[in-house]
Amino acid sequence: MSNFHQELARELEILKANALFRNIIVTETNATAWLEINGRKTLNLAGNNYLGLANHLALKQRAALALQKYGTGTAASRLVTGTLPLHAEVESALAVFQGKESAILLNTGYSANIGVIPALVGRHDFVFSDKLNHASIIDGIILSRAKLKRYRHRDLNHLEQLLKTTTGSGRKLIITDSIFSMDGDRAPLKELVQLKQQYGVVLMLDEAHAEGVFGPGGQGLATSEKVTAGIDVHLGTLGKAFGCFGAYVAGQKILIDYLRNKCRSFIYTTSLPPAVLGSILASLEIISSTAGAELRKSLHSKFKWMITELNRAGFATLDSDSQIIPVLVPGNDHVLNFSKKLLERGILTLPVRQPTVPKNTERIRLSLMATHSMEDLKFALHQLTSVNGRWDTPGT
Ligand SMILES: Cc1ncc(COP(=O)(O)O)c(C=O)c1O
Repeated sequence: MSNFHQELARELEILKANALFRNIIVTETNATAWLEINGRKTLNLAGNNYLGLANHLALKQRAALALQKYGTGTAASRLVTGTLPLHAEVESALAVFQGKESAILLNTGYSANIGVIPALVGRHDFVFSDKLNHASIIDGIILSRAKLKRYRHRDLNHLEQLLKTTTGSGRKLIITDSIFSMDGDRAPLKELVQLKQQYGVVLMLDEAHAEGVFGPGGQGLATSEKVTAGIDVHLGTLGKAFGCFGAYVAGQKILIDYLRNKCRSFIYTTSLPPAVLGSILASLEIISSTAGAELRKSLHSKFKWMITELNRAGFATLDSDSQIIPVLVPGNDHVLNFSKKLLERGILTLPVRQPTVPKNTERIRLSLMATHSMEDLKFALHQLTSVNGRWDTPGT
């Protein structure tokens, strides 16, 4: 083995020794409430297909129509020959959905954050970022070279103190997840909008896990809390509750025109393919319809029930108030074994370790779907409780 490969092998050994090595699980069905893994039915509590739309017939049909009409890939970036009428149609529909003037499509939430943030701030600017923001936000800030002012999770006093004491003349941008991806709790949006107004700064909101699930028409937490007018940069993703793929930013026309000219992850990449665009249009229709509202209602009652029952069984679920429910099982080995035991019992969960979450807050992340039945959830609760009962360190 070359020195290079030996060095890599040593690093992998260290990961394995610390129970941090990551394995890929192949699922034989796609994003369904019950997955097939190695031919075995397994309850899916790990994905983000919150409304179960990834297998919806209407999405498949619209994707197939677009595929037949336009082919598989666009083979160009948006500013070259990679813009079809479908891209414009999806962008207009997303702007209307969010009640904003305009929208721009990006290829994933990850590439949205690593493109949009550096387009908006640079080395003379400041970013105020919640400590538990998603990795893509953190990477976007690093790429931007702006000065990072990280505030304690949802701690408005800390944020205000940082806003007060940051006196440079550069642009100031507050960024937060709306529903936090690993904790399932909610950002204090009303207060953040107040602070943004008081200090004259810009506010960017990442609604990756809130869209489809919150808001009267599934627009996200900002609409649900009636603060959309206070959000300058609204980022949504289309690969989670939408069941499709991609991401977008909605805002004033001037912001979107600016991003089309400055956002490198928009400019220097092949545009989203026709089938994905077709599926997004179908998904938007469902999410905004009464059928979408029914799915949301069902999901809300399920996550509320699950959080209450988990707490009653002695599990700590942090401040989760959403379909993302962390079940604390501190320790890399512990959390890994806990999730392995659940898998043996037919339940797939995500064991979350460093660096995704801080040390000693390792957890099993449960993500619920509207298409889970109450029997599914009772089964999960029973198995979680019984694995916990055999555990040295209870998950509380
Ligand atoms: C808050 C947040 N933003 C962005 C992303 C990335 O989105 P995508 O999976 O579309 O790249 C995620 C993914 O989980 C996320 O949780």
